[in-house]
Amino acid sequence: MGLRLFFGIPLPHRQAEIIAAWRDSLTLRGRPVAASNLHLTLAFLGDQPADRLAELSEIASRIEASQFSLTLDRLTISHHGLLALGPASPPSALLDLESQLREGLLACGYPLDTREFWPHVTLARRCLVRPGLSAPSYACQIKRFALYQSINDGRGMAYIPLLHWLLGRREED
Ligand code: 2AM
Repeated sequence: MGLRLFFGIPLPHRQAEIIAAWRDSLTLRGRPVAASNLHLTLAFLGDQPADRLAELSEIASRIEASQFSLTLDRLTISHHGLLALGPASPPSALLDLESQLREGLLACGYPLDTREFWPHVTLARRCLVRPGLSAPSYACQIKRFALYQSINDGRGMAYIPLLHWLLGRREED
């Protein structure tokens, strides 16, 4: 059996706790994503044989992208009840990271989603749709990305970071 894998950016622990507490204060019911699972997906790979992990690690380690500051300030709630927070203006370093990863994965034959990249952090699923929610603005510094395994631990989905890579430091750091 394969592993259900994706590349993503983990939210820094403190920001994840703050964002989850704000989400909980909305009382939208539904299925909240645990603070420890909050992430922004870069590339979803689906089920992959475990012996491709070395190749995936190699693709990720070739990436040259910088650290960046991410401001999460656009709230989306779909009619299916998916509550997501993303950047109103995605930083160019984030778009660069995603496109390098996409190119590396496509070159090795991974079938990726053909939809345009929508950077977002899913906060909850199957929420009550309540119009007029105002978006907060949370800023965090992104220093790493990770290869995750998605598993159902019986209580719900858990996203386990298997490997991670540090992004390059910016000139001014
Ligand atoms: P979502 O949060 O918008 O549902 C682990 O499942 C992560 O991969 C989630 O962040 C999820 O996005 C994303 N994901 C799941 N299935 C996907 C698919 N078919 N294409 C792109 N991303 C997917």
